[in-house]
Order: sequence, then structure tokens, then C-alpha cells
Amino acid sequence: MKKILVIHGPNLDLLGKREPQVYGHITLNQINQSLEKLAKKERVSLVIKQSNHEGQIVDLIGKNKVKFDGILINPAAYTHTSVAIRDAIAGCGIPTVEVHLSNIYAREEFRHKSLISPVAKGTIMGFGPKSYTLGFQALIDLVGRK
Ligand code: DQA
Repeated sequence: MKKILVIHGPNLDLLGKREPQVYGHITLNQINQSLEKLAKKERVSLVIKQSNHEGQIVDLIGKNKVKFDGILINPAAYTHTSVAIRDAIAGCGIPTVEVHLSNIYAREEFRHKSLISPVAKGTIMGFGPKSYTLGFQALIDLVGRK
């Protein structure tokens, strides 16, 4: 069975309450439930982590090198700032899909640059919670089911 690591970056634990006009009313728990459901259907195993700390995210990626076949990540604000997370993804060799709830190019200029996209297999954004399920499906197609 393929193993997927899902990483939610900073402030995503506040989804549902946080800027609902941008991110909607759905909670992180609800997003995780839909990923769990999909994982069951696709017969892949899933580990889900959320962290507000850059170094912790770097550790999650680097220390799990041998354990996972694919990573689905919403790096949140670190998308635009973190060379450390980018280097961890580039160095780990695990196929990684980047997702965002919002379309970062339709927002403030400081969000228009992703340091993560160049080292991701692909990026899905702008579809709200569906970005996660679409990204997850794409990742499963990438790593295969067996
Ligand atoms: C986000 C977009 C980022 O710019 C922002 O800092 C987030 C969430 C998204 O999912 O739309 O925290 O990654």
C-alpha cells in the first residue's frame, strides 16, 4: 500500500474561523475527513500533520524520506518565504504536490511568488477545499496505487 504524507502549514488549523471571506467556512477537520475517505477508496495509507513552525515542517519532510511515497502540502504563508521548506522538498526525492485553497495570483502581490512550485511536481490552487482532493488524486496517479 502506498503511503502519503499530508502537511498543512501555519494557521490552517484555524480554517472555518479564519478570514472566511477568503477561505470559506469549512474546517481543517472536514478537509482531513474528505482526504481520509478518498484514501480509503483509493487504498492508500495517510498520515496528516499540521504545524505552525517552519523547522517542524522541514523535519517532517526530511525525517520521513524512507517512509512515504508522496507528499501533499499546503505550505500556507511559508509558500512565499521558506527556502528551508523548498530545500527539504528538493532534497527528499519524494514526489510532492502543492495545494492552496485560494488562487494566490488573484491576491496581494506578495503572494504571487511561490518558492515551493519549482520543486513540486505540480500545484493546484483556487478551488477551495477541492484543491486538496484534486491534488490528492493527482498525487495518487503519480505514485501509483500498489
Ligand atoms: C494559502 C495561501 C497563502 O498565501 C496563505 O498564507 C495561506 C493559505 C491557501 O491555501 O490559499 O495561509 O496557502
